[in-house]
Amino acid sequence: MNDQQPTRILGIETSCDETAAAVVEDGRRIVSQAVASQADLHAAYGGVFPELASRAHIETIYPLVRRVLDEAHVDLDSVDAVAVTRGPGLAGSLVVGMNMAKGLALGAGLPLLGINHLEGHVYSVWLVEDQPEPAFPLLALIVSGGHTELILMQEHLNYRRLGGTLDDAAGEAFDKVARLLGLGYPGGPAIEAAAAGGDPATFAFPRAWLEGTWDFSFSGLKTSVLREVRELQPSIQAGVNPPEPGLPIADLAASFQQAVVDVLVEKTLLAAGEFGAKAILVAGGVSANQGLRSAFAERAKSPVLVPPLQLCTDNAAMIAAVGHRRLLAGQRDALDMDVLPTWPLTQ
Ligand code: KG4
Ligand code: ZN
Repeated sequence: MNDQQPTRILGIETSCDETAAAVVEDGRRIVSQAVASQADLHAAYGGVFPELASRAHIETIYPLVRRVLDEAHVDLDSVDAVAVTRGPGLAGSLVVGMNMAKGLALGAGLPLLGINHLEGHVYSVWLVEDQPEPAFPLLALIVSGGHTELILMQEHLNYRRLGGTLDDAAGEAFDKVARLLGLGYPGGPAIEAAAAGGDPATFAFPRAWLEGTWDFSFSGLKTSVLREVRELQPSIQAGVNPPEPGLPIADLAASFQQAVVDVLVEKTLLAAGEFGAKAILVAGGVSANQGLRSAFAERAKSPVLVPPLQLCTDNAAMIAAVGHRRLLAGQRDALDMDVLPTWPLTQ
């Protein structure tokens, strides 16, 4: 690494059901990346089956890393560090990526960097090269299958957690309601597609404002959708029997989605005002939702930064982007580093 040469990071991500690797230069330029989704493998279970996930990562990780290095036309000698997701995530899945990263770092004598997955989602926004770098203070809303977090950043790598979900994550609520409506897994895109043909004003589902806090709650909303569906079709059981014809799926999906979007957008904008945020960043799988994106674009007064669709869901470029920052900040992790399945973003 010198002033002329770009800093090149190999990123590895295996926290859930996506095996991913990427080569990123200077924390902003994706040279190559690959994501192998296991969605088909888990679809039958209506959610991620941890044991199957870790075994699928084992089969996929080596060829995937090989591929991104080949596509970037680099070998490990011209990589500056290996950055790997340390947590949060499924322990058995994280271990596969971690061990791959350790093997590569040890074999090639490279620095090893353990990265928080949520931090990765935040830095996915820096990967949009033609977009100016986000200004601080920055308010980040991370909405994924496992997390709903509101984070204030005063500068790089500095996180203050303002609040988060008290029960279901936003993506989890999408997945559970999709299962109830017989729309399959992953639920977010399925609900969004169904909602496109529905009227969001049909059902007045509750919004949990939790005033005076920056927290969220989606379990009451989920229960309310379940109650409504049972009234319409008493025999229905989530994931056991699919809805019978006649259920107004589009209207249910649209009304549910609107309730989630309203709370996420309103509370985030309130926090942005309160903390004088110069920009709002929305990241994580649920940030792929067009309803959420348009609501932010329409209602926000400060710039709203959202990653391009392919970087909203889990990927390794975002892990490499953080790796770049952390390498410059002097982080080096030891070869006995353990994974951290629960690791809040507060460091
Ligand atoms: O960030 P991510 O890929 O994995 C986790 O770290 O959890 O997020 C996955 C979540 C799933 O719950 C999925 O249903 C949701 O993001 N999701 C969406 C959309 N695309 C993915 N939710 C709403 N609308 C979407 N278009
Ligand atoms: Zn994620």
